[in-house]
Amino acid sequence: MEIIVLPDSDAVARTAADIIEERLRRGPAVLGLATGSTPLGTYRELIRRHREEGLSFAQAQGFPLDEYVGLPASHPQSYRSVIRDEIADHVDFAPGAVHGLDGEAADPAAEADRYERAIAEAGGIDVQILGIGTDGHIGFNEPMSSLASRTRIKTLTAQTRQDNARFFDSLDEVPEHVLTQGLGTILEARHVVLIGLGKAKAAAIAAAVEGPLAALCPASVLQLHRHATVLVDEAAASRLA
Ligand code: F6R
Repeated sequence: MEIIVLPDSDAVARTAADIIEERLRRGPAVLGLATGSTPLGTYRELIRRHREEGLSFAQAQGFPLDEYVGLPASHPQSYRSVIRDEIADHVDFAPGAVHGLDGEAADPAAEADRYERAIAEAGGIDVQILGIGTDGHIGFNEPMSSLASRTRIKTLTAQTRQDNARFFDSLDEVPEHVLTQGLGTILEARHVVLIGLGKAKAAAIAAAVEGPLAALCPASVLQLHRHATVLVDEAAASRLA
């Protein structure tokens, strides 16, 4: 694992965007796209580079990490909507190049299998952007998730529903279930970029980077990855030894 501590969230966003830009400029790229607050600065920086510097996504594909079960694609908090609003609609992905999990699929297990196949057919993920939950989750692989897990349906913990309630009108509206790429799926990405911002993530980052490799902190599985970069601001780095 390479740990890079940067002064603030803007510097983190620029560094994450540099990694994605470098991969995009090398040719067709498959990007794994996290949602939530953490990658927003990175997406804004990529949109700026697209508009001002000609950075093109025309040869790229995107695979969101996860999706809420039960939300239609048109719901503003579905991750298909969020990815469209925060990045995809503002750059030049080709039509159909940004994929998504169908949170309304009648058979979630079949939908999860379809997504695994779609990732494989695209050639696997080149750069996977990840945020981290306060409980150490990546994707929505909550503590005690199998370290070898594949894309599947999961139940959110009370902590994660509480953390994500800020995106909804009330806690009751936060779905209880999600479809998420598994830890085994994430480990197959060729380069994983884990971003941690702010003091609230400091304990999870310390556990992921310096704690034992344990299902209690799902992000610690990245210690096994051959090319994992952890980008943190000073606040998120504050509990590293
Ligand atoms: C989002 C995701 C989650 C978030 C994590 C942190 O697609 O899979 O793991 O990255 O919950 O969320 P934020 O960035 O909102 O603090």
